[in-house]
Amino acid sequence: MKQVQFDMIAKTLFGLEQVLENELKLLGATSVKQGVRNVRFRGDRGFLYKANLCCRTALRILKPIYFDKVKTADAYYHSLSRLPWEEYMTIDSRFSIQVTQSVPMFRNTMFAAQRAKDALVDRFRKKQGNRPSVGREDPDITFFIHLSPKGMEVSIDSSGKPLNQRGYRTETNIAPINEVLAAGLVTLSGWKHTSSLLDPMCGSGTLLIEAAMQACNIPSQINRKQFAFEKWNDYDADLFATIREAMLNRVKECFVPLVGYDKAPSAVRKAQQNIEAANLSDYITIQRRDFFKTKKDHPEQHLHILTNPPYGERLTVDPDVFYKQMGNALKQHYQNTDVWMITASMEGLKNFGLRTSRKIKLFNGKLESRLVYYQIYSGSKR
Ligand SMILES: C[S@@+](CC[C@H](N)C(=O)[O-])C[C@H]1O[C@@H](n2cnc3c(N)ncnc32)[C@H](O)[C@@H]1O
Repeated sequence: MKQVQFDMIAKTLFGLEQVLENELKLLGATSVKQGVRNVRFRGDRGFLYKANLCCRTALRILKPIYFDKVKTADAYYHSLSRLPWEEYMTIDSRFSIQVTQSVPMFRNTMFAAQRAKDALVDRFRKKQGNRPSVGREDPDITFFIHLSPKGMEVSIDSSGKPLNQRGYRTETNIAPINEVLAAGLVTLSGWKHTSSLLDPMCGSGTLLIEAAMQACNIPSQINRKQFAFEKWNDYDADLFATIREAMLNRVKECFVPLVGYDKAPSAVRKAQQNIEAANLSDYITIQRRDFFKTKKDHPEQHLHILTNPPYGERLTVDPDVFYKQMGNALKQHYQNTDVWMITASMEGLKNFGLRTSRKIKLFNGKLESRLVYYQIYSGSKR
């Protein structure tokens, strides 16, 4: 039987829209269209489960349920009173509403969320004589409302906890990179699982873990306990089990080494714990080493470096000196290497001393950053 197709929205981080579009297409999405920090696509219920289970660069997957061309705060409340909320939840569901706006319809989005809550609660009281309660932590259902020049779009969240929370990060260090960003960086860097991968300043190991999961085809949410869609009244547990099994059947071995260095013993410990939690100890090795004192292990082999060094504000040493030292270490001891580095230190980049082949603008949390690419050829010291 042909399943009903519907629109979906995958949210992501700035700069990863193209990567997410490619991911969704590869998984089988149709009508794929990029927005700002999101990608729209179509699929059926099974595809909603698959996208949640497998997408590495999506933060959450939404299912739009309602659209209205409202322009004012009053029209907003009245329109939301007509939305049949009761089709998506019961009086016992603890709900949450989040609002974003790209037009200044409300002075703040908290107030807009409050008005939407009023509309929902007032409708339940009128129809059922009682009201559902708000679930601040771990709600049963979350509605997302987006206000744009076109009007208001209401969606339900199918993911639950954001999809960057993979479940393997048992420990965090001072500056762990978001898992969705890390997965995007692995793809943007073009690592093809044919040369060894080194993160010489690996912190808690996120880049290496995401890289190994990609190389082994391990679904990004393999460790997740629950998705929000499991609480929907149309949830099909058999369908989800079939999709999960099909995805697990695609898991394969990775034959190239993934290696991480960090000079801080606490980072090494945390990385090892996370790698174990992700079941990837067979593929990733972590060593306590100061990168500036290392040399390429196999000079004749091509190496792929992907790293997220400390930024100026968290660094106890001068960023100019640090980045200069890093550039020198690469030039002198890492020939025949592709180096991809994400940093928010524009000062540091100026002092790196190598010519960039590519620069991509991204955000690491709130910090505007650059993913930069340097090719270090063999036989050249520049
Ligand atoms: C921004 S953190 C990396 C975070 C990592 N991407 C994660 O997800 O956890 C930078 C790391 O570089 C390490 N580091 C700084 N200088 C180093 C050096 N000379 N050699 C090796 N590691 C170094 C720090 O100990 C820190 O763990």
